Amino acid sequence: MSNAILSLKDVSYSYPDGTSALNDCSLTIRRGMRTAVMGANGAGKTTMFLHLNGILRSSAGDIQWEGTSLDYSRDGMRELRSRVGLVFQNPDSQLFSASVREDVSFGPMNLGLPKNVVRKRVEEALLSVGMAESADKPVHNLSYGQKKRVCIAGVLAMEPEVLVLDEPMAGLDAAMQEELTVVLERLHAAGMTIIIATHDLDFAYGWADEAIVLQRGRLLAQGNAADVLLRPEVQTELGSSPLVAEITRSLALTGMAVRVNGYLPRSRSELLKAISEFHRQENEQ
Ligand SMILES: Nc1ncnc2c1ncn2[C@@H]1O[C@H](COP(=O)(O)OP(=O)(O)OP(=O)(O)O)[C@@H](O)[C@H]1O
Ligand SMILES: [Mg+2]
Repeated sequence: MSNAILSLKDVSYSYPDGTSALNDCSLTIRRGMRTAVMGANGAGKTTMFLHLNGILRSSAGDIQWEGTSLDYSRDGMRELRSRVGLVFQNPDSQLFSASVREDVSFGPMNLGLPKNVVRKRVEEALLSVGMAESADKPVHNLSYGQKKRVCIAGVLAMEPEVLVLDEPMAGLDAAMQEELTVVLERLHAAGMTIIIATHDLDFAYGWADEAIVLQRGRLLAQGNAADVLLRPEVQTELGSSPLVAEITRSLALTGMAVRVNGYLPRSRSELLKAISEFHRQENEQ
């Protein structure tokens, strides 16, 4: 694909205990897109993410940044990690400094940025995840959801080209999930490439441009999220289908063909809008 930013070509990876986690896996992440990565527990999502910023190195196959194989030298890795920011699934794997501010400062300081730039980026990142007031708190005293927010801030402060989030919504309260969605929209609008692993099919259907579905370490499906997430084999693998799509289908069976701006609704708010639009048109006739 022409605007590929990161791609895996026939990548295989086994953990030291012999567990095969990726098996001839090929997929493409496109620049500027919002990509949802889905698949059952153990399908290989986290393992794939750890390959995208070079934490793990495949035993076979190739990983490319804009068509060029990754450079695993020290300098190559430093450059890759400034471009690809990964927020871990488990915040305790990511946080290591004493205070929130120190932790979020670590990445941008390592980029060698001037102190005042680091300070500004850290303040902005903490504000955007609602943690500015906790900047001086010890990390180990935070709740799970607060730790997740600090991890997200740490990566935002690096201003990467690609933001990779491993189940970012898990453990966040509803208000914070909403706020994070707004932050992600802003970053997407500014041109950032965003990749999210999630088990939340409804979120993926409403948010993503593209979807990647993994099955036992291999690619099961990839493409336009609205198409991929409705494919029968994907629904069988994920054990579910997007609720909004199911409701839209049921309404169609009763003669209500609801649309927003001519398209099938993808989110709860679009569905509600489409239903009121349908009733408005009915009343006009
Ligand atoms: N450190 C490890 N050592 C050995 N095996 C591992 C290790 N980490 C993961 N695995 C195995 O690799 C496979 C892929 O795991 P991975 O964590 O990538 O899945 P996932 O799709 O992220 O799952 P989940 O939805 O539960 O987060 C699984 O079989 C898992 O048990
Ligand atoms: Mg995982």
